[in-house]
Amino acid sequence: MASRTLSASERALTLYEALPYPNVPLSQTARNALPEMFKMSYTTAQYVRTHAVIEPEGKVLLNAGCGSGWETLMMAEANPGAKIVAFDLSPASVKLTEERLRYHGFTDTEFYVLNLLELDRLGIQFDFISLNDVLYLLEDPTDGLRAMKRVLKPEGIIRANLHHRYQRQVFFRMQEAFQMVGQFDVAPATGAKNVREFMGSLQEEVAKGVLWNPASYTEDPAILNNYLLSNDKGFTIPELFEMLRQAGLGFLSLVDMPDWSVESLFKEVPEFVRRKLEAMSPMERLQLYELIRPAHRLIDFWVDHAGSSLVFPWSDEDWLEGSVQFNPILLDSPRFHQEYTKALQENRPYEMQWTGATHGRITLPADKLKWLAPLLQGPTPVREVIQGVVELGSLEAEKAADEVLTYLTALEDFLFILLQPSL
Ligand SMILES: C[S@@+](CC[C@H](N)C(=O)[O-])C[C@H]1O[C@@H](n2cnc3c(N)ncnc32)[C@H](O)[C@@H]1O
Repeated sequence: MASRTLSASERALTLYEALPYPNVPLSQTARNALPEMFKMSYTTAQYVRTHAVIEPEGKVLLNAGCGSGWETLMMAEANPGAKIVAFDLSPASVKLTEERLRYHGFTDTEFYVLNLLELDRLGIQFDFISLNDVLYLLEDPTDGLRAMKRVLKPEGIIRANLHHRYQRQVFFRMQEAFQMVGQFDVAPATGAKNVREFMGSLQEEVAKGVLWNPASYTEDPAILNNYLLSNDKGFTIPELFEMLRQAGLGFLSLVDMPDWSVESLFKEVPEFVRRKLEAMSPMERLQLYELIRPAHRLIDFWVDHAGSSLVFPWSDEDWLEGSVQFNPILLDSPRFHQEYTKALQENRPYEMQWTGATHGRITLPADKLKWLAPLLQGPTPVREVIQGVVELGSLEAEKAADEVLTYLTALEDFLFILLQPSL
């Protein structure tokens, strides 16, 4: 009997039904995975879109292509009071997701076995959709974006991502090589074993050149999701923007935007580059960055219905009359409170992972920990923060106001704190 070519969905189903992804024990909590929870936070995404602090309570959130539910758990933990809907092509994955959410006590949930392209069959409209590590597996990712747009409420936001063409080029080359030596036609466990044998047989320098490090590939899924991933594809920034245009979606931001700063690539930006940068669109700046330093595995983005977002820059008055708060995922994190308080008591800086900051890390110097301490209790008027800094004794009122506003503005760029103007 002649064998036919499997569709992208059939290939995904074969792999993920056998090995639901990721392989994380049911009992592990996601509550401290702040860098990932950041990407799943409805409030953070809406703040990027509108500058408003909107609570997730009562919102309907969708984790599309939920895999084994690790990400779904993060979504539930990052968005207290929201209804969580999750689906995947793979029944085994959906079952695990359901068990995981139940194990951790989340009950306002719904689970479905479904193809992303048939999402409208659910008859539900969503406030926020997260699709992590799925879009690039589809035959045509634009169809996936269109499917999500059809079920997105008018004010809703989609967070999704694509593999980066340049960053991941070694894997795309090796996937082709392994196809040539027949490893896409064998059972997953056999393929993983053969990849290990193949890589172990390469000259040392050659193996390094294809990013082979045996310690990183002791588990089969690591091999299957990289060197043997079917239908894996890479994209560039202009290609993403073209897909969004075709799907009628509007680009809001990359979720790790500070890490795509062209200026950060230079010791000093040459004058002719600076002049060009001033005239560039956001897309062109990101494109220039990826051409110089394709460092990110994913192009990870927030989008909405094209033309529906409107964000005005904050004025000095908004700042002075407003209140600031830590991003709610920080405020809700017992670990953040504990570590912050400990660093404060020991009068030392506090360094942590934070997706919104440059290189995914942020350091709060010891003096700034004191400045921001009132925010641990909740939203705090900016004038109170300034007054507190004056009372600490090292700065006069005017200088304190200047320095506090400069610092708060930088933290707001990282979505580490959010501003609420006075009403
Ligand atoms: C790499 S895993 C990612 C799982 C999860 N999103 C995460 O990040 O932990 C890819 C998942 O996408 C699912 N998938 C692939 N194509 C799909 C489709 N067309 N519709 C629904 N799910 C799909 C697979 O079954 C698999 O569980």
